[in-house]
Amino acid sequence: MKAAVHARYGPPEVVRIAEVDRPAIGDHDVLIKVHSTTVNRTDCGFRAAHPFFIRIFSGLLRPRKTVLGTEFAGVVEAVGTAVTSFGVGDKVFGFSEWRFGAHAEYLSMPEDGSLATMPANVTFEEAAPSTEGSHYALSLITSAKIRSGQHALVNGATGAIGSAAVQILKSLGAEVTAVCATENMELVKSLGAGRIIDYRLEDFTQDEQTYDVVLDAVGKSSFGRCRRLLKPGGIYLSSDLGPLSQNPILALVTPLFGGKKAMMPIPPKYRQEEVKHLKEMIESGQFRPVIDRRYPLDQIVAAYRYVETGQKIGNVLIDVEPAPGSRSA
Ligand SMILES: NC(=O)c1ccc[n+]([C@@H]2O[C@H](COP(=O)([O-])OP(=O)(O)OC[C@H]3O[C@@H](n4cnc5c(N)ncnc54)[C@H](OP(=O)(O)O)[C@@H]3O)[C@@H](O)[C@H]2O)c1
Repeated sequence: MKAAVHARYGPPEVVRIAEVDRPAIGDHDVLIKVHSTTVNRTDCGFRAAHPFFIRIFSGLLRPRKTVLGTEFAGVVEAVGTAVTSFGVGDKVFGFSEWRFGAHAEYLSMPEDGSLATMPANVTFEEAAPSTEGSHYALSLITSAKIRSGQHALVNGATGAIGSAAVQILKSLGAEVTAVCATENMELVKSLGAGRIIDYRLEDFTQDEQTYDVVLDAVGKSSFGRCRRLLKPGGIYLSSDLGPLSQNPILALVTPLFGGKKAMMPIPPKYRQEEVKHLKEMIESGQFRPVIDRRYPLDQIVAAYRYVETGQKIGNVLIDVEPAPGSRSA
């Protein structure tokens, strides 16, 4: 089968398209013919081994997982002898955490892994990018126990995590202020933001309003700069380590003093229940992934280069098995 392979850590150009063996499946596994996948920030981090500590998980000198790709949507091609909950021909989507392997024509997943049958109301192209940004956004929002009527500010509302965060906060009944660029204000409004701050015109950290939660989904602020935006007892959340990798330390230290605090929860292990929950959110219209460019698998190096500009709007798709009539960038 065709796959995007990287045998060493490095820039996008270390990835090449090669013929590799189809993954074998055990009694409890399903083999999925991948239609759509994404290039996301997790793929970029593991390909480049950046930050360096990623090597602890992915291989000290060279990558153990040579085919990356976490998010997928496709069709079950074969099932192991003990599989009962999926059948050949089922449309499925999910997240291949730690195992990766979705940048290929076929992917194997354990039957009880983080996958589910696809929501009825989306295509492969919409299902594939539904699982990463939403996972990190959910983990941040759940840890802060945000309630209906609370005020939240999302910085980086056009990213994969930020665009999911705006929608999830809105579905919880929060009042959302979003920070983005002029040209994306209408998009972010359509996701549920009640108020928009254009970061090219205004410094959001100087805003007069105060918030129960400030969620930096793009790692461009700090607890220190956002502290004045927080109500008493307010929470600063970040999806990123912070400019000096300070966020994990602040998350340990600031709760000890009471009052305003920083939180940076370790995202929980991806479970099948979470994919099923996302499926329900998609079917009920509470969440829809934002899609930016799409590339054929053969052009995955260009997709990596684009994602690493830090300017993608939502998600970047990879068409592995393009649907008839679909067009890549
Ligand atoms: N916790 C984890 O394990 C984990 C996993 C994945 C990602 N992350 C981190 O989470 C962050 C977000 O990831 P992502 O994939 O959601 O990001 P992304 O999609 O690459 O986010 C880029 C978006 O941020 C916007 N942006 C850039 N600079 C901005 C600024 N100064 N103010 C407001 N918006 C700005 C860009 O819009 P413009 O084009 O307008 O600039 C673009 O739409 C990254 O720092 C990533 O490293 C963490």
